[in-house]
This record gives sequence, structure tokens and C-alpha cells, in this order.
Amino acid sequence: MKFTSTVIAFALAAAGTSDAFAPAVRSVPTFSSTTSLDASAGGRQPIMAGNWKMNPGTEQDAIDLSQALTKLLGDETCPIDDENPLCTEVVVFPPHPFIAKVGEEVADAGITIGAQSIYFEDKGAYTGSVSASMVLSLGCEYVLCGHSERRTLFDDDDQAINRKVLKVLTSGMKPILCIGESKAEYDLHIKNEVCAMQLSKDLANVTKEQMKDVVIAYEPVWAIGTGLVCAAEDANETHAFLRTILARMYDDDVAQETRIQYGGSVTPDSVDELMSMPEIDGCLVGGASLDAEKFGRIINFKTE
Ligand code: PGA
Repeated sequence: MKFTSTVIAFALAAAGTSDAFAPAVRSVPTFSSTTSLDASAGGRQPIMAGNWKMNPGTEQDAIDLSQALTKLLGDETCPIDDENPLCTEVVVFPPHPFIAKVGEEVADAGITIGAQSIYFEDKGAYTGSVSASMVLSLGCEYVLCGHSERRTLFDDDDQAINRKVLKVLTSGMKPILCIGESKAEYDLHIKNEVCAMQLSKDLANVTKEQMKDVVIAYEPVWAIGTGLVCAAEDANETHAFLRTILARMYDDDVAQETRIQYGGSVTPDSVDELMSMPEIDGCLVGGASLDAEKFGRIINFKTE
């Protein structure tokens, strides 16, 4: 689909400026008196996800990691078939060749499986690609869309990401839509504009009904794999800002019900503070998800 200047103007206006390169006022979200920022009011289920990226190197290593992880689930994580809507949902994203085996290993522990990417076409001459129906048939429930490594290394643009999001949804799976500003954009103080633009483009034609199955992951690109974690208060503020954009694109219900993860160098040391923030509903974890002990501590986060 085409993205018109209207969409772009909408995103910029929503972000609080008509000039993408004007310094942004730090986000001060405005909510109506009926809108609560309290996560408990939204009743959002925590979701902790491990993005294994192109790791580990062999199927056996992937099985070993899966088995180790199944032993580290705690009281708060969702057992299989649990009805408790507020237990912590745990999702792992292995590389495509390992999805089936890892899925078998973790299924009984209640861990959900996802795919790191799909191509938006159904089938055909697309060498090297996998379709939504392929990963669905392996048991995937989630698909990452718009991860910054896909955006920068594989040229996934917002139009392609939007097509993937729609394909994932119409295939009966749930996208985790990753958005976030680069270091240069952060330094230019256009974080909010970038995130608003990505949300508006990547969610084009996604209906209010479909938003129930969409998870957003706010991942500042400068924090991914760098050891630099966004300060919990700053991430919380950005998440609150993203809810104002969702409220404008949809309504207050969607804004309050959509789960928003933080991602970028999350570790056992940073997870508790991040998860104590009312707007942060989970984490998308890369490096630390490859170490079962570390990921086990992350999914068993503690908040006061
Ligand atoms: P990181 O990766 O935890 O290694 O920073 C996060 C991600 O890429 O989702």
C-alpha cells in the first residue's frame, strides 16, 4: 500500500511537531481523566521473549538451551494451559531450522514458540524465504516484525514490515512489532517522531479487533547488543507516549490494552527496575536469552 503525506503528517502531528528534524519537546503524554496509566487497570499480561537471533550454532546446542530453560520457570510463569491471565507468558524465537525441535522441547513447560521473521508472500519463487503458513505449521504463535537488524541489515522497510504484520495476523499468529530510534535519531531528539512514524506505517490497515493480538516492542537501536540499557524511567515515558499514539490511531482501550515490551541489553541486573515501571509489560531479550540462567532470572523478574 502507499503511504501518503497524510499518514506522515498524522504521525508527526501526533508526535507533537510538524517538522521531523525540529528538536522535540520531551514527551509529556496527555491522557483524558478516564485514562489510567496503571498497568493493573489495563490488566496486561507480562510477556518475556528471547530472541536467539542467529544462535546457537547447532541443533543440539538449541536443544540443550531449551531443556535448561524449561527447568528455570518459576511460580509466576504460565504453566501449560494455564487460565491465569496475569501469569508471565514466555516466548522463545529460535532460528528457523530449530523451531520444530525447540518447540517439542519446551511445549510441556508452557513456553510459547515464535519465528524471527517471515516473508509476506504465501508461496512461490522466493529463494531462502519462509512463509507464515510454514512457521504456523511448526507451532509458532508469534512472529517478530520490524526488528532493527531486519530493518538495517536486510532492508526491511516500513511497507514490507506492514505487509508482514498483516500476513502474520491473517494467518492466525501474533506479531511482535519492533520499533525504536537509532543513535543518530536519539541525538537529534526525534525519538518520539521516529517511533510515531513507525507505528503509524507498520500498523496501517491493522484493525482495532486485530490489535488484541499485536505486541509492540520498543527497542532503542543504540541499546541493542551494546550493553547500554535505556533508563527505566525514560523507557517508561516512551511507552506512555506510544500509548498516546495508539489512542489517536485507535482509541483509549487499545492504548491501554496493548502490551508494550522494552528491548535492548536487558539483563538480570536491569530487568527488575524495568518491570517495575507501570508502562513496561515485558522484555524482548537478545544476548541474555542465550544463557539459560540469565534468561531464567529475567523471566522470574521481581517487582515490589
Ligand atoms: P539484546 O538484543 O538484548 O542483545 O540487546 C535485543 C534484541 O535485539 O531484541
